[in-house]
Amino acid sequence: MRKPLGAGNWKMNKTIAEARALAAGIARGLADLQEAAEKVDIVLGPPYLSLSAVAEAAAGAPLGVAGQDCSAEAGGAFTGEVSAPMLKDAGATHVIVGHSERRELLSEGDTQVAAKAAAASAGGLVPVVCIGEPITTREAGATLDRIGFQLEHSVFSVFKNPPGELVIAYEPVWAIGTGKTATPAQAQEVHAYIRKRLGENFGVDWAGNSRILYGGSMKPGNAAELLAQPDIDGGLIGGASLVEADFLEIVRIAAGG
Ligand code: PGA
Repeated sequence: MRKPLGAGNWKMNKTIAEARALAAGIARGLADLQEAAEKVDIVLGPPYLSLSAVAEAAAGAPLGVAGQDCSAEAGGAFTGEVSAPMLKDAGATHVIVGHSERRELLSEGDTQVAAKAAAASAGGLVPVVCIGEPITTREAGATLDRIGFQLEHSVFSVFKNPPGELVIAYEPVWAIGTGKTATPAQAQEVHAYIRKRLGENFGVDWAGNSRILYGGSMKPGNAAELLAQPDIDGGLIGGASLVEADFLEIVRIAAGG
């Protein structure tokens, strides 16, 4: 049985003080949830500047911390970039790579995403690799082809052997921040396909133990039906992760209510 993973993606929100307060509030809330909190792995993804503060606020609580991106390089003359070892030094355990906002707004391609995932893994972080189709692809009936292509070029191209731990986040682009959610059946179809492809490349045991997250307007009102799907192992949660009560409620639901 896979332990669900709830990962918050705070995007470009929260000052350092606000981030510290939200992390501390979530840590306190998890202490109140007790047994439920033990049934779920939870990761908070603040902006870089707040990472140390969030890691400090999370210390002692069952909370991981994620960077929202990392460089494909370990260090050097790359102005504005942050490397995986730096994130780890600041207290990160995970890093999101290939988020659709970066793919779309900053023209990141699969090759770059793959290099970042490899750098994250080499730097001792768990990569959370985001993949997902735009609405035109879904309407054209080509979703699984697109997902297969992204897996091939964002993951399998660099990991020839099964990585220690790697999380895939399926985030249909049309569902991110739009209030629209994939139906449980739509999401399950894609998640099952992702697990099949992971199994073909890394072995069915590895695939059976790895977490595949759903992202795209997950909130307390729809989390239960999404998380009830056999291949949905948690969520990458944007908007709702900024609201302490909503995030904690999703954790409670992920723990089985
Ligand atoms: P959302 O964002 O939950 O606000 O749709 C999810 C994400 O972009 O990771």
